[in-house]
Amino acid sequence: MKYFLTTPLYYVNAAPHIGHAYSTIIADVIKRFRRMKGDDVFLVTGTDEHGQHVERAVKAAGLQPQEFTDRIAGAYRSTWDELGLDYDSFIRTTNPQHHRTVQWLFDRCRKNNFIYKGQYTGQYCVNCELYVNDAGPGDPCPNCGRVTETVTEENFFFKLSAFEGRLLKLYEDHPDFIQPEARRNEVISFVRSGLRDLSITRTSIKWGIPVPAEGRHVFYVWFDALIGYMSALGFGGDAAQVAQAEKLWPADLHLVGKEILRFHAVYWPAFLMAAGLPIPKRIFAHGHLLFEGEKMSKSRGNIVRPTPVARVMGVEGLRYYLLRDIVFGQDGGFSYDALVTRYNADLANGLGNLTSRTLTMINKYCGGTIQGVIPDDPAGAPDPEIGRLAGEVISQTTACFENFEFSRALEAVWSLQAAVDKYIVTHKPWELA
Ligand code: MSP
Repeated sequence: MKYFLTTPLYYVNAAPHIGHAYSTIIADVIKRFRRMKGDDVFLVTGTDEHGQHVERAVKAAGLQPQEFTDRIAGAYRSTWDELGLDYDSFIRTTNPQHHRTVQWLFDRCRKNNFIYKGQYTGQYCVNCELYVNDAGPGDPCPNCGRVTETVTEENFFFKLSAFEGRLLKLYEDHPDFIQPEARRNEVISFVRSGLRDLSITRTSIKWGIPVPAEGRHVFYVWFDALIGYMSALGFGGDAAQVAQAEKLWPADLHLVGKEILRFHAVYWPAFLMAAGLPIPKRIFAHGHLLFEGEKMSKSRGNIVRPTPVARVMGVEGLRYYLLRDIVFGQDGGFSYDALVTRYNADLANGLGNLTSRTLTMINKYCGGTIQGVIPDDPAGAPDPEIGRLAGEVISQTTACFENFEFSRALEAVWSLQAAVDKYIVTHKPWELA
């Protein structure tokens, strides 16, 4: 079976930190698990290069947009490569093929009468040249603190309000569409409270994808970025690429951080419904990694970069710690102490010692060869006790992976390690020999 999954497409306003790496590491873990189960897996990751976040960072760096975005997108790619992450497509939203895909989706929605021109009124900061979407009249700009102005501009709107009923039916008919459960409930109450039409173009921003035949307008960054999941497959390309893309679409899983769930669970299915295209099967929103109890941010100076950690602890050590210590779906603290403790206790002392002890005994007592055949089915193991336990651990681990319960899956694996340790102490192979 095909299994197509995605990470968020990361803003190129700054180089990746451990939180960004966390999402991509989890996606890579899921990919490897599905592949082991025999699926044909395709993993998309990449960068979201337009919008105010990026425009602002470009200005601050004093570089040309292309030069700046090339640099940060390159940093993402090389970080994923250094972490050994096995993606199949890395999409950049500045790619011309992506521009064609966005225009194609816009045309489809427009043809189906879900797009119209209207007036947008909102708060604007003249100093920072940006729209402050959540602000009301007289509110300050969150960036520079100056008072925002109320401005009105002509924009294209997406008829999001027309999808309220259809979205609620989708969540009801497919209870697994949004996970975890608590997040699903938040989305449902958001949609129940009523949806307003969405302005999907801007005339105030230059750094974006131009709207076809509407020179001054560029697409709102979320109408652009989400569609990256499709251009990454080949939509917007030639006939052969589109045919290939259609085989993979829709996504089996969009993996996202909790702060962008609404865009994926409300806007995205509505855009696709409007365009008459299949919608994704599942959206999983994970929690955030905190550092010393706080959100990582440049201004706090508490950003943890993944590659230096991986250089010291090894990629596998870092992956193990993130999967074992943080309950997937919840927020969790990243701590160097906890990482070292896990590494020493579980990997070096637990698994490492057991492996080295076993190999030593094989050499010492069995002439360096394994005697007999190791059966594929653990139930056929020479010792029924360990065989039975191994069989149980395999099914528990598999079930946990299916449910995105990585920490419990690893706990199960390590229970086998503890049982084998105990087995050695009880049976004393050195006496048997
Ligand atoms: N560009 C949008 C996403 C568009 S998807 C079509 C965006 N980018 S982002 O660079 O801000 O990255 C957001 C994602 O990075 C989060 O949703 C999450 O997956 C990951 N994380 C960023 N900081 C994180 C933590 N501190 N902890 C865990 N994940 C974090 O939003």
